[in-house]
Amino acid sequence: MTAFSSYITDNQPRFVDELIDFLHIPSVSAKSDYKQHCVKAAQFLIDEFNRLGLETTLVETPGNPLVLANYKASNDAPTILIYGHYDVQPEEPLDLWETPPFEPTIRGGNIYGRGSTDDKGQLYAHIKAIESLLQTDGALPCNVKFLIEGEEEVAGENLENFIKNNHELLKADIAIISDTSQFAPDMPAICYGLRGICAVEIRVDAAQSDLHSGSFGGAVPNPCNTLCDIISQLKDADGRILIPGFYDNALDLEEWEREEFASLPWNEENFIDQLGVPDLHGEKGYSALERKWARPTLDVNGIFGGYSGEGDKTIIPAWAGAKITMRLVPNQKPTAILGLFRKYVEKIAPDYIKLTIDEHGGGGPVLVPRSAAFMEEAVEALKFGFGREPSFIREGGSIPIVSTIYEELGLNTLLLGFGLPDDNAHAPNEKFSLRDYQRGILTSARFIQQIGKTTQHN
Ligand code: BES
Ligand code: MN
Ligand code: MN
Repeated sequence: MTAFSSYITDNQPRFVDELIDFLHIPSVSAKSDYKQHCVKAAQFLIDEFNRLGLETTLVETPGNPLVLANYKASNDAPTILIYGHYDVQPEEPLDLWETPPFEPTIRGGNIYGRGSTDDKGQLYAHIKAIESLLQTDGALPCNVKFLIEGEEEVAGENLENFIKNNHELLKADIAIISDTSQFAPDMPAICYGLRGICAVEIRVDAAQSDLHSGSFGGAVPNPCNTLCDIISQLKDADGRILIPGFYDNALDLEEWEREEFASLPWNEENFIDQLGVPDLHGEKGYSALERKWARPTLDVNGIFGGYSGEGDKTIIPAWAGAKITMRLVPNQKPTAILGLFRKYVEKIAPDYIKLTIDEHGGGGPVLVPRSAAFMEEAVEALKFGFGREPSFIREGGSIPIVSTIYEELGLNTLLLGFGLPDDNAHAPNEKFSLRDYQRGILTSARFIQQIGKTTQHN
């Protein structure tokens, strides 16, 4: 047993208590009146890094602050940039939580609470790894820079701007992020692909106010109907997106990837049972795993307008709106796709309504080549932490900053997922396995130690 392993085992109860303290802070970035809680979460991290002896900076932004923490080993040692986010998703719907979202509770070997897996628990694993190495070896064998944000869940632009303006400060050899999942319980994974995302809100307006549908219906446009007409022309029955040019740059799956995906222990029947859906649906010609990991999508996330309360209300609504996101695959560019979306929707929208398209934030897709630096060390570290060889997987979710890290800092990112696909991220009863928390800490400590050794031999 290595010294840090015993330290991790001995201190695990305290590591859990500290994570509980972190999870108590309701740092929901989507709610402006929770801003003070976001600041508190950032300060919690600053205090923790100060205790560990790292050099810290709280960077104010127009939104939530960034947390930087720096450990300098030496000029010739490699530098690891560790990213994470302290903001969490809104806690609603509250009545579906078995225990309150911000009163973290341990049940059945899991810690339940908003942010437990996404991303506070996974991020904290790296912090505890650093502590364990410092406490047992007295020093780290490589330089470490933490870069932690509080606006990941709202696609904030402040971190992107900070990275653009601070190349030198953030200079590193490799980035690591733990904000994805294992493939399945006891199946650790390195994620080599993420989808990008771009978001829009469209709004259809007609009359100045709601109108009596008896007196006016049939004579004037109905924004709810027109919005549905527009939405119905975005995709065909086979799940293909109808926006001209949408697929032009979308990189198709390689044959070896399709074979690798197919060889993973995953089947559509289990997936159907797990979700309780009557059947699966999506683009023809691809398996469900291929569709959710590596094919672009367009989804309506919410649709609103008119009357949806109890009983009937006979009106022609004055307006209607929808929130739409598109998930993108490598080589599709969020800004270009937004342009194509706008052009097409403006073309199909009838002249008898007023159309507004608001473009929201987004982020680019990611592919990390298997030849990226430190991949072998990452495989070895996961084997050490989880006792299993990792699978190489892609994920359908997005971590917008990964493409910025690549484009601005020239770094590939190792996506070491410690969570599980059924951790209920963004949903009620979000959880993180305490065993995976500990295995994550072991993996991170081992990785950092191995990276240090590699260079000494160079
Ligand atoms: N941790 C997730 C990203 C993720 C999701 C990785 C699913 C693997 C599987 C991240 O916190 C997240 O939720 N990202 C958002 C980004 C969006 C708000 C711009 C997403 O994917 O919806
Ligand atoms: Mn996350
Ligand atoms: Mn998330």
